[in-house]
Amino acid sequence: MKDLKSFLKDLRSLYPKEIVDFNDPVDPGAYEASAIMELYEREQEYPLVIFNNPLNLRREKTGFKLLFNAFSTMEKQAVALGAEKPHRKLIMEQYYRLSLDKRPVVRVESAGAPIKELIWRDKEVDLYHFPIPRINEMDGGPYLTPAVVARDGETGRYNISWNRAMVIDRNHLGLWMSPRHLWSLFSKYEQKGEALPIALVLGHHPAFFLVSAGLTKISDDEYEVAGGVMGESVRVAESESFGGDLLVPADAEFVIEGVILPDRRSVEGPFGEFTGYSGPQRISWLVEVRAVTARRGGTIISVFGAHQDNLYAHLPIQADIYQNLKNIMPAVKDISWVDSGGPLNLIISMTKKTEGEPVRAAMAAMSLSNFIKHVIVVDDDIDPGNLKQVMWAWSTRSQADKDVNIIKRTQGQVLDPSLTDEILGSAMIIDATRPVGQPFSVKAQPPEEIVRSMVKKIKLGT
Ligand SMILES: Cc1cc2nc3c(=O)[nH]c(=O)nc-3n(C[C@H](O)[C@H](O)[C@H](O)COP(=O)(O)O)c2cc1C
Repeated sequence: MKDLKSFLKDLRSLYPKEIVDFNDPVDPGAYEASAIMELYEREQEYPLVIFNNPLNLRREKTGFKLLFNAFSTMEKQAVALGAEKPHRKLIMEQYYRLSLDKRPVVRVESAGAPIKELIWRDKEVDLYHFPIPRINEMDGGPYLTPAVVARDGETGRYNISWNRAMVIDRNHLGLWMSPRHLWSLFSKYEQKGEALPIALVLGHHPAFFLVSAGLTKISDDEYEVAGGVMGESVRVAESESFGGDLLVPADAEFVIEGVILPDRRSVEGPFGEFTGYSGPQRISWLVEVRAVTARRGGTIISVFGAHQDNLYAHLPIQADIYQNLKNIMPAVKDISWVDSGGPLNLIISMTKKTEGEPVRAAMAAMSLSNFIKHVIVVDDDIDPGNLKQVMWAWSTRSQADKDVNIIKRTQGQVLDPSLTDEILGSAMIIDATRPVGQPFSVKAQPPEEIVRSMVKKIKLGT
């Protein structure tokens, strides 16, 4: 059975250096946990850190745990998705393949569901009881980064999306929804004057969370997609507050049940965004918490907002861009977005057949996502995730007067702090590929077949 525990066990056995147990008491509500994560990141280390003794928001000891960086490296993503190697392209392909293998949920009795070991209802609910972190200095409060489960009462389909939630008081959260599926579902309820029941999942197998980042079709039931991506059906149980009208993951670590209230809004933010900057304070939606259920000693997964963990959690979006781009332009061999040295940069490698193809590929990619502002296109001998190789190709295969295209007045990404207009920005395409059908300098290296024949004679990576 797949859950957070099984993931941690797999990670420890396959990549033991990827996990750190932090046993000293730490006060996450006073930034101490994220400060420790910051220190690792400054050393360019990205371990998953389990804080085994975090204080709660009342600065009391708690039996619960807090975990950061579940998504911060390809090793963790490979373990989460069962990919053979921690390689970006393999992982993207694996995510996409698994997401098509939808599996129906398996219903279990609440009595046997780990998520029902501890239950707080209505007046017993107190969010300050839990180890919830303040992450970055400007953050508007302590933040949760849950996978939000909601059911469309008309179709019966489940949506899962990643939405940050700021603690407002002991039973209220401010929830940010950009205008995507959860937002449109809630809008439908709000128009009827109804509240939307939701479940905030705070800890589960990381594959479950990755699904919540994906741009799944509205017609797909995301519990079923999660079953595919996890490699086994999601086990679900009735919620405490809504019974069979909202099923919750039985093997989660923590679930907050509540409703998004109609005609109510709340100030929420700032919050550290995937761009690496603090995003603006907003008027967001108000969640009234009805119940909290947890495993005894349960673990909250927190994304390390505005840091590598946050960017890497977008891997399903990278997988989606890759797949769609390949459908349009089969010459595309690989892409790198989360590893491209900037949250709004995309590197494409392709087997170019004609001049102009790289620009066309770049334009196709830009139209797939407004996360993309700058595109560098390289030949298929360049690994787009290896920025040294990419910079080498750019510096040796392009001339600025003919290979750089600036596109004016494009729709920007609102979180890009360099935008001077509310939404209008500009984009850039760099064609760093060699010319077709013309002689070009040969890459200097010993003959390839001799290099290959020497592989067994040396021990690399020691
Ligand atoms: C770590 C992380 C945090 C995110 N936080 C939010 C958020 O607070 N609000 C939001 O609208 N989207 C957020 N997103 C993006 C959504 O999860 C993503 O767009 C998802 O596809 C939305 O699902 P939906 O279309 O089913 O609503 C976040 C993504 C990641 C990876």
